Amino acid sequence: MQAGLKDKVVVITGANSGIGLACAKAFAAEGAHVVGGDRSVSALSDASGILPVELDLLASTGPQELIDRATKEFGTVDVLVNNLGGAQHRESFLDVDDAAWQAMLDLNFISGVRASRAALPIMVKQGRGAIISIASDAGRQPDPFYVDYCVAKAAVISLVKSLSIEFGPKGIRANAVAPGPTLTPGLIEFFDTSVAPQWGMTTDGAIDHFAKNVRKLPLGKLGEPEDVAALVVFLGSDLAKQITGSTFGVDGGVMHVM
Ligand SMILES: NC(=O)c1ccc[n+]([C@@H]2O[C@H](COP(=O)([O-])OP(=O)(O)OC[C@H]3O[C@@H](n4cnc5c(N)ncnc54)[C@H](O)[C@@H]3O)[C@@H](O)[C@H]2O)c1
Repeated sequence: MQAGLKDKVVVITGANSGIGLACAKAFAAEGAHVVGGDRSVSALSDASGILPVELDLLASTGPQELIDRATKEFGTVDVLVNNLGGAQHRESFLDVDDAAWQAMLDLNFISGVRASRAALPIMVKQGRGAIISIASDAGRQPDPFYVDYCVAKAAVISLVKSLSIEFGPKGIRANAVAPGPTLTPGLIEFFDTSVAPQWGMTTDGAIDHFAKNVRKLPLGKLGEPEDVAALVVFLGSDLAKQITGSTFGVDGGVMHVM
């Protein structure tokens, strides 16, 4: 991409799988020093240009620890990718108790709050930096079957806007990327073990049916983690130097609003 990211320091949360892993590999391919935090680092350990950091990012000190590790190894943080997150299917709003709400907010929102709070003083000091938070189409188009996830991702989008306003004058950009359904290992497993048997289809057939007939994606297929990573790398680079406070879909056109 010629993104000018060589030797930049990029911290990614939840980097061992799916979209986080694709981002880690894509930044490393640009010559960046990637610091990938995850509770399991099996997929990161042999990857060149990626420093695996095994830790619990839901612990209140986890995100700070990850940022500290990056500054200890490489002296700074240029880009933070708040990727950690995940959804739970809900039958009804009435089924989500306080503990479930808190857990969903912690995973999708508070972890990113903590990581941003740890990284921003470093970025402010050096007068530049980029934060990219992974939201979801669900954060802009609420769905009762993921009620708490939708709220958590809407919070992610809102925070990005606030950060862009407060820290833009200090040289820091903050943007969100909102993937639509994406073929991560977790999603494929869900189709394999749950959806395909229920619909009496093969896994590939069920995924195709879901994309074309259930979610009605105009492009007719689900995205891949690399599709999201390409935009995240762009937003982390100086090619995006005039872009902040925005949310971008990588969703095959699933959002039917302007
Ligand atoms: N996959 C999709 O279809 C999709 C769609 C829209 C948005 N998103 C968003 O993209 C982001 C990445 O999703 P994905 O599907 O690639 O995720 P994933 O489930 O493939 O990977 C999540 C990673 O987070 C790690 N993790 C979980 N809890 C942790 C903890 N406490 N401490 C440290 N690491 C922990 C896991 O080990 C895993 O490596 C999430 O924010 C998700 O909400 C995904």
